[in-house]
Amino acid sequence: MQVLSLEFENYRNLEKSSISPSKEINVIYGNNAQGKTNLLEALWLFCGGHSFRGAKDIEFINFEKSFAKLNIKFFAQQREQTAEIIFKGNKREVRINGVKKPSTTALIEKYIAVIFSPEDLTLIKRGPSGRRKFIDSAICREKLRNAVLISKYSKILNQRNALLKDINKHPELKTTIEIWDDILCNMGAQITYYRLEYIKRLTEYAKKYHRGISDNKEELNLIYISSCGAQIGDSIEEINKKLLDALKKSLKEDFYTGYTNVGPHRDDFEIIINNKKAKIFASQGQQRSAVLSLKLAEAKVLKELTGENPVVLLDDVLSELDVKRQEFLLSKISEYQVFITCCEFENKKHFEKVKYFYVKEGRIQ
Ligand SMILES: Nc1ncnc2c1ncn2[C@@H]1O[C@H](COP(=O)(O)OP(=O)(O)OP(=O)(O)O)[C@@H](O)[C@H]1O
Ligand SMILES: [Mg+2]
Repeated sequence: MQVLSLEFENYRNLEKSSISPSKEINVIYGNNAQGKTNLLEALWLFCGGHSFRGAKDIEFINFEKSFAKLNIKFFAQQREQTAEIIFKGNKREVRINGVKKPSTTALIEKYIAVIFSPEDLTLIKRGPSGRRKFIDSAICREKLRNAVLISKYSKILNQRNALLKDINKHPELKTTIEIWDDILCNMGAQITYYRLEYIKRLTEYAKKYHRGISDNKEELNLIYISSCGAQIGDSIEEINKKLLDALKKSLKEDFYTGYTNVGPHRDDFEIIINNKKAKIFASQGQQRSAVLSLKLAEAKVLKELTGENPVVLLDDVLSELDVKRQEFLLSKISEYQVFITCCEFENKKHFEKVKYFYVKEGRIQ
């Protein structure tokens, strides 16, 4: 997978122009607030449509304009392809290879990327929702099926939660709650299963990277913590059964809290270094190494599952890492097409084909 060119018009602060990146390393540099992350975000949007900064569509459109347009040419599945996204208000128009599509999710499985930004470095210390997002984002980029499943699950969960809140006021509705349970468990079991499968693969690679970065001194492990007791190796049917049982058991609590207390939306995964919980015991440096290993593993697993080398996007992450970790990261991503944003760039020795893009006030040189 390789980006051949990217064109933008009215996109955030970027002036209408296009870039033709190198197939190896692309360094996007310049002062603060010039448009470097905006450029990276545009490249990221083609893998399914959500900004890694959590932006709304309207925010992509230049303050002075009424629409924004992105066009990309990329090589994937052994052929050259094109995609276009037009943002108009909160509406999107999407075309892939000239054919109109109902949404940007149509780009899933076609265009594959991995993003690594400084917020990722706090993945271990933060609450479980960031870690769930990390897994879900990855499995959504891997398969359209997963993205559809997660979106449907979240809608059904919202409906069940709304009903739980209603029941507090109207107890006669109590018997209707079961209507949601079968479908919720059916989807929840699939999500849990695909997450467990993903964690299994991710662990394998993350372990290797972590051994490398810690000079074989540290052993990294990941443990999925399921609210219904599901484990790696369980079938979807087994998880479904565990989930239904757990949901029945928690029904009283659900009525009390007005919220669904079990299901993949309550799961987490733990990062373990040398048999100790990283969240509690790992030093800053150890946490950074662990996240670095997870991110590199994410790229490897996506490559394994999709058969395509993902495009690697590094937003300001080098400046957050010490020289040893910077060099480790750079040495491991030479197999990918990489886009790096930074204020200054010094690690030239790792690459032969570096292309530099200097960004100033939205103009790219
Ligand atoms: N819709 C928009 N229209 C016009 N300008 C925008 C829009 N959205 C964001 N901007 C501006 O784009 C500028 C560049 O943002 P960006 O995040 O790309 O900076 P950056 O070069 O990555 O800076 P830093 O080095 O600080 O991370 C910001 O000043 C921001 O206000
Ligand atoms: Mg930035």
